[in-house]
Amino acid sequence: MRVLIVGSGGREHALAWAVREANKLFIAPGNAGTREFGENVSIKATDTEGLVAFSRRENIDLVVVGPEVPLADGLADALGQAGVSCFGPSAAAAEIESSKVFAKAFMQRHNVPTAQWQAFLLDQVEEAKAYARTLERCVVKASGLAAGKGAIMCEDHTSSDRALHELLTVGRLGDAGREVVVEEWMEGEEASVFALTDGDDYLVLDPAQDHKRAFNDDLGPNTGGMGAYAPAPVMTSNLIDEVCRSIIEPVLEGMAREGRRYTGCLYAGLMVTDQGPKVVEFNCRFGDPETQVVLPLIGADPIEVLLGAASGGIGNLRLTKQSLAAACVVLASGGYPGSYNKGYPISGLNTASEIPGALVFHAGTKSDGQRTVTAGGRVLGVTAVASTLREAIGRAYEAADLIEFDGKHLRRDIGYRALGRE
Ligand code: AMP
Ligand code: GLY
Repeated sequence: MRVLIVGSGGREHALAWAVREANKLFIAPGNAGTREFGENVSIKATDTEGLVAFSRRENIDLVVVGPEVPLADGLADALGQAGVSCFGPSAAAAEIESSKVFAKAFMQRHNVPTAQWQAFLLDQVEEAKAYARTLERCVVKASGLAAGKGAIMCEDHTSSDRALHELLTVGRLGDAGREVVVEEWMEGEEASVFALTDGDDYLVLDPAQDHKRAFNDDLGPNTGGMGAYAPAPVMTSNLIDEVCRSIIEPVLEGMAREGRRYTGCLYAGLMVTDQGPKVVEFNCRFGDPETQVVLPLIGADPIEVLLGAASGGIGNLRLTKQSLAAACVVLASGGYPGSYNKGYPISGLNTASEIPGALVFHAGTKSDGQRTVTAGGRVLGVTAVASTLREAIGRAYEAADLIEFDGKHLRRDIGYRALGRE
């Protein structure tokens, strides 16, 4: 099996680790950590033509696409036309992430539970502000892809007025914000559920919980995610069944009926509300950092599962429930998610990896001669697997504390909701 992973973050390092038994593994472009399992190739994740040509030249059997932008740009379509199997949906199916207006209207058509909402265009600022005033608290969202910066939580009507002015009048998010969704602010606990699907059948991975805010106690700005753990006990097995019946299945059936057959990973970002689980958002790919905690618990051969989703036959596979838990603590650059410096040497990577159960996934790193240096906002995802969540969290912090670089910042409370339930 010859596999190509597309992307360069912690998610892609975790994918590379998961498929490390492949006969040949390439990562485009990869990071300093992915080299441990395969060959980094200097082709950008957004270079569709380059990736297709490389896949044909190297007789790749399976391409696994990490990030959303190449999928929204049609990488899976182009690979399909070239006869290469791809884990990841077509551009039409990826619209479930790349257009929030499409996703919300689709959920409405198929009775998928989500927050009450309306969509507005550039010339509808006043209508949008008036609608926001009908909701006690709301969330204003750019419809297009905005690298995790597209949702503005509005505690009151002054902030919704300001958010709508910024997006529709000032154009702060450019094209992504030319159309906005205004929706009800939902109360509850969040969880991420990943369904891996070939379009007909699907397998659900352990539910995970992300920590989106930059600082302890969920304070500070939203980030790409400062840590995660799985399984998340908020998602009981009854709730998972409900999510499958009321969300995953209607989405897969609806997408197929609308000519957008969905394959790859359907990421359901959920809010567990008093009225049951509701969709916050869909993503057309694995979550980051959630992938770092769900793949180590998968309970099947990851290559078979990814190939089953890409080429069909996932219905013949089963996941064995593991009595394990995993936690991931993100080490970020000082200043992230705002501006930060890069190029600081990282120490302690090897000693951290020796902590039992630890897996140190690189995110924003690169090799600089013999050294590994910081090269992004989220630098590392220090993960640990153990028989209990408490132990996994303890081990992840033990490993995280052995790693140093200038400006390193991390949250100290990853998993607090789950531990609070014990
Ligand atoms: P999104 O860009 O849709 O992923 O939203 C980013 C984050 O904002 C989510 O993970 C939630 O924490 C929060 N959020 C988005 N929409 C809502 C909502 N309707 N109610 C409450 N929180 C939300
Ligand atoms: N961890 C959130 C995301 O991957 O979108």
